[in-house]
Amino acid sequence: MIEQYVKTLKKHLAGRPDTLLILGSGLGALADGMQDSMIIPYEKIGLPSAGVAGHKGQLVVGRLGKHEVVCMQGRFHLYEGHPPRLIKEIICAFAQIGVQNLIVTNAAGSLKKEMPAGSLMLITDHINLSGQNPLIGANDEKDGPRFPDMSEAYDLKCRNRLKSIADKCGIKLDEGVYLMVSGPNFETAAEIKAFRTLGADAVGMSTVPEVISAVYAGMKVLGVSVITNLGAGLQKARQTHRETLAQAAAAAENLKKLLEFYMEEE
Ligand code: HPA
Repeated sequence: MIEQYVKTLKKHLAGRPDTLLILGSGLGALADGMQDSMIIPYEKIGLPSAGVAGHKGQLVVGRLGKHEVVCMQGRFHLYEGHPPRLIKEIICAFAQIGVQNLIVTNAAGSLKKEMPAGSLMLITDHINLSGQNPLIGANDEKDGPRFPDMSEAYDLKCRNRLKSIADKCGIKLDEGVYLMVSGPNFETAAEIKAFRTLGADAVGMSTVPEVISAVYAGMKVLGVSVITNLGAGLQKARQTHRETLAQAAAAAENLKKLLEFYMEEE
């Protein structure tokens, strides 16, 4: 399957992107600032359509600052029933056509009151509680190692760069550990409390399979969560998907600015 994706990607992509940008729920507008962009619907490259409100299901390819970027608008959530290995396959295919960097964004719930809705959280590390792993199955060493090291999954230099950009822009950037659950239900109050005890700062239903796959494939990873709500038990109101999208849109403006500056550097 990886070779197949490599073939179709090479056929449809005019340039050779060095960066893959994955846009989370409500963050699709981050692709709007791209120059000379071209849209490729997922079906064209043999990918299933991504079918949640706020996720389009297309690649946007173009220039962002000094980089040639391929952007996934719409991602494959495990809760939709996509096999985890689909994520490994597509990420490996991108790596094999020359993509060296992954920038991953998501909408997430906060596990601490000091990081309310509308905050941006630079992901320093993750905890995989999804119960799944994209690397399960036969391994081909030409794609990546059987037992990949995850001790610095989120590249320290990339993180420091984004932090200094945030400083210069006067945009508050929290830092923390992202914990992934499979979803699709939001968490119980007891789960939120437990996750806090485990050392997590935010919770969400994506990103981890992509990051595991990218590290496996040898990419450098930068991850940012847009906090759309406090976890269950930390806020009075119940969480809805519509709220998630609305909060994401507001904080996404700041994230867009940060990433635009980030892409101005080589
Ligand atoms: N939990 C899990 N995923 C999420 C949340 C949440 O509270 N908010 C946005 N995505």
